[in-house]
Amino acid sequence: MEIKGSVAIVTGGANGIGESVAKYLVSNGAKVAIVDMQQDRIDRVLAEIRSMGGVAIGIQADVTREDDTARFVTETVSAFGHLNIAVTCAGIIRDGTMLTLDRETGTVTKKLGLDKWKPVIDVNLTGSFLTLRDAAEAMVNGGWEGLLVPISSVNKVGQLGQLNYSSTKVAIDLWPKVMVGEFLLRGIRNIRVVGIAPGYTETGLLAQMNQEALKTILQDVHLGRLVRPEEIADMIGYCVKNAALNATTIEITGGLCYPKGIAK
Ligand SMILES: NC(=O)c1ccc[n+]([C@@H]2O[C@H](COP(=O)([O-])OP(=O)(O)OC[C@H]3O[C@@H](n4cnc5c(N)ncnc54)[C@H](O)[C@@H]3O)[C@@H](O)[C@H]2O)c1
Repeated sequence: MEIKGSVAIVTGGANGIGESVAKYLVSNGAKVAIVDMQQDRIDRVLAEIRSMGGVAIGIQADVTREDDTARFVTETVSAFGHLNIAVTCAGIIRDGTMLTLDRETGTVTKKLGLDKWKPVIDVNLTGSFLTLRDAAEAMVNGGWEGLLVPISSVNKVGQLGQLNYSSTKVAIDLWPKVMVGEFLLRGIRNIRVVGIAPGYTETGLLAQMNQEALKTILQDVHLGRLVRPEEIADMIGYCVKNAALNATTIEITGGLCYPKGIAK
């Protein structure tokens, strides 16, 4: 599959990894729909892409809303005539342990609330599902060659303080196998699914993490620094081009390991 001439939807495309993916795809000749909640960020990225001579549209939408996902798929196909790539970068964190105790009495002072649980499930899991479902529907009905790219995370293995987030990312890790299996079952041969599980990547999302914890984690990264969003984008570009990559999730972490010898 060629990037040049293809049409892509990138959710969360107005910041971080999504922004890099959108810019990588347009600079390699794709037309891109940047879908995000934040209009000001969409405007900034669109202006930058257009100044590079790239072709893109911006669509403000909330991936948790079924009417929005249907709308941005339809608008993309109306603008560009077809759809080939969907990358679901819209994602959030709301960290916290399930229970917080009073140090002196040992009794529970705080529980992880639905205010932190539900938004993460809604955006990361339901939003990615709705986006990929509606993109796949368009690809099947249009008969276009397609690639779905769900974004998991290295924290799919379970990160303390991220019961909500890790739950979404381990589920997403399974999707390429389940989706491609279902495509095979239904005789859908034109769509591949390749998930990406990034390690700690230099974006605004990490600014919301405990910075001391992040410093400690970085000591266990063989690369010695955060992954750059451009490096994730480059991997996605490779996934577009290599037809044999399918039904799997690829980790790109810079070599996140633990000194005791357990690779994450
Ligand atoms: N940065 C990392 O270290 C890292 C590591 C592993 C996985 N990831 C995953 O990569 C993806 C992108 O992360 P990032 O670091 O680029 O984040 P980011 O915060 O930089 O960008 C996420 C974008 O998603 C948008 N967004 C949030 N909720 C939305 C919604 N409901 N509808 C539409 N857009 C919405 C935001 O406005 C933002 O522009 C996420 O799924 C994240 O979990 C990130």
